[in-house]
Amino acid sequence: MNQETILNSLSGNMDTKIFDEIGNCFYEEPRVECKDLADRNLEYVDRGQNRLVYDVPGKNQIVKFAIDPNANPSSNDMEILIDEKIPPNLRGWIPNIEDHDERNTWLTMEKFKTPRQDGIERIPWDDEKEFKKDLEESGWRCSDIRPSNFGKDKDGQWKFFDFPGCRSL
Ligand SMILES: Nc1ncnc2c1ncn2[C@@H]1O[C@H](COP(=O)(O)OP(=O)(O)O)[C@@H](O)[C@H]1O
Ligand SMILES: [Mg+2]
Repeated sequence: MNQETILNSLSGNMDTKIFDEIGNCFYEEPRVECKDLADRNLEYVDRGQNRLVYDVPGKNQIVKFAIDPNANPSSNDMEILIDEKIPPNLRGWIPNIEDHDERNTWLTMEKFKTPRQDGIERIPWDDEKEFKKDLEESGWRCSDIRPSNFGKDKDGQWKFFDFPGCRSL
């Protein structure tokens, strides 16, 4: 499949085969040229310590590939586990995981605007404080609370999108 064909099939009826292929590449040794494979097929957004993030064509969505599959559980494993436990009153802050493969090599979620990609202001200190207060009131704690892990949704609400380190106390 050439790139145009892949993008067309993705933006029409969502075809996750290419995610599986890229996810497997990161999961199984040797992991040579996995990023090249991803870069050829999808539009790169950003990376963190544990995930590579790409735009899902034709949707307001991103896909995160776990690049720490030797970590057991991986960041994707943890995020998917935590996603099911997020209490309703924290859902305003923490996005839903929309889809993932069986081995959690990839997961998808809503795409947010970020200072790095979209040139918006970083999350104001007051909003970050409010998030921490809401976590505390719900009996939760999250590691990695920092501006690079927040983005803004369509309604202007800040979302904490990097949450494998969230726990109920
Ligand atoms: N839902 C999202 N919308 C827009 N950009 C995102 C989203 N999730 C992640 N990103 C971008 O990708 C980067 C890495 O993703 P992140 O979830 O923080 O991975 P890691 O666990 O490796 O830190 C983020 O810093 C951000 O720039
Ligand atoms: Mg991060």
